[in-house]
Amino acid sequence: MFRAKIAGIGHYVPDNIVTNDDLAKVMETSDEWVRERTGIEQRRYATKHKETTTTMGARAAEKALAQAGVDKNEVDFIIFATLSPDYYFPGCGVLLQRELGITKTEIGALDIRNQCSGFVYGLSIADQFVRTGMYKNVLLVGAEMHSMGLDFSTRGRNVTVIFGDGAGAVLVQPTEEDNQGILTTKLHSDGTYAEKLAFINPGAHGGYHHEQAGEEYDYGYPGPDVRGEMFITPHMLENGQYYPNMEGQFVFKLAVRKFPEVIKEALDDAGLSFGDIDMLVPHQANLRISQFVQKTLRLRDDQVWNNIQKYGNTTAASIPIALSEAVEAGAVKRGDLVCLAAFGSGFTWGSALIRW
Ligand code: UT7
Repeated sequence: MFRAKIAGIGHYVPDNIVTNDDLAKVMETSDEWVRERTGIEQRRYATKHKETTTTMGARAAEKALAQAGVDKNEVDFIIFATLSPDYYFPGCGVLLQRELGITKTEIGALDIRNQCSGFVYGLSIADQFVRTGMYKNVLLVGAEMHSMGLDFSTRGRNVTVIFGDGAGAVLVQPTEEDNQGILTTKLHSDGTYAEKLAFINPGAHGGYHHEQAGEEYDYGYPGPDVRGEMFITPHMLENGQYYPNMEGQFVFKLAVRKFPEVIKEALDDAGLSFGDIDMLVPHQANLRISQFVQKTLRLRDDQVWNNIQKYGNTTAASIPIALSEAVEAGAVKRGDLVCLAAFGSGFTWGSALIRW
């Protein structure tokens, strides 16, 4: 069996910078609140009608391919991680194939919906395909265009101030070099609290999960006779029930426990310990979460890459953007032990250890 390595990496963020003060003009929030609670100073928003999740993903993918010196038509599998796809279906994987101008059809395209842990899940999938020898050039993209689906009224402020747009991509290839490549990946899920961080409409649930839990929930749909209208109803539109919602403190408390746990699990598997990590690239959910994890792992500031200050939380794109920046800045060098870790909606969480 081969080992898989990241042969090329790239990221793309839109030009449009949105500061906390800009948001304070449209909702009741403040620069002070957002900085203090999250560390975020600004985020990027894609240009409406000109950019989409797919086009941003394609720009990042082109950079990853160029760095690896691989032609787009040599890609044999695409994995696209996003929670903000261009269409409900088909997924962004095939749209990326088209956007990149890959005309051959001897290629697979897979979309994954694992939100904040999407990139780590995608890397694990790419790793398995490469290790078994099935594919040689797996293109993994994490991209989000949150700005199109956020509630910009004060009602949505706890979620809206956090998220930003952007994309990151890697090309995963086999390597026969000793001591290089993906050492291990660890994946977890627990659906018990699926609705604690969720974007539930439009959807096929028709109130099911809430009824099962004995909860009242006002969907406003007219009843089971009008099936076609259960997916998205005028009532949902009138009441803004098509935005993401999050019980922030609940998610925060679990995240600070799960990050160290899943990092330790990967290190144990590889016979390594916290002190062996050269660079931790955590999912950029909240600077306070990253700082908590850093403290628990006893890492120095130069061993943790944070860029949430500039981009906010870009969900599936956050790890590849951060890793791409760290590589570009020379903060990750050949032979370094890089640790990726993520926790988010689902809940799903995971980690990856890479010998760079
Ligand atoms: O990447 C996916 C995983 N997601 C996460 O890991 C997110 C984890 N959670 C968090 O990062 C934090 O919980 C948040 C940053 C989302 C929220 O911070 P918090 O300290 O947990 O605030 P809170 O939700 O408990 O709200 C505290 C107060 C509330 O007011 P009252 O009830 O105390 O009067 C909120 O209404 O802050 C208010 N608030 C805001 N005020 C100004 C909530 N959002 C805002 C806002 N601006 N944007």
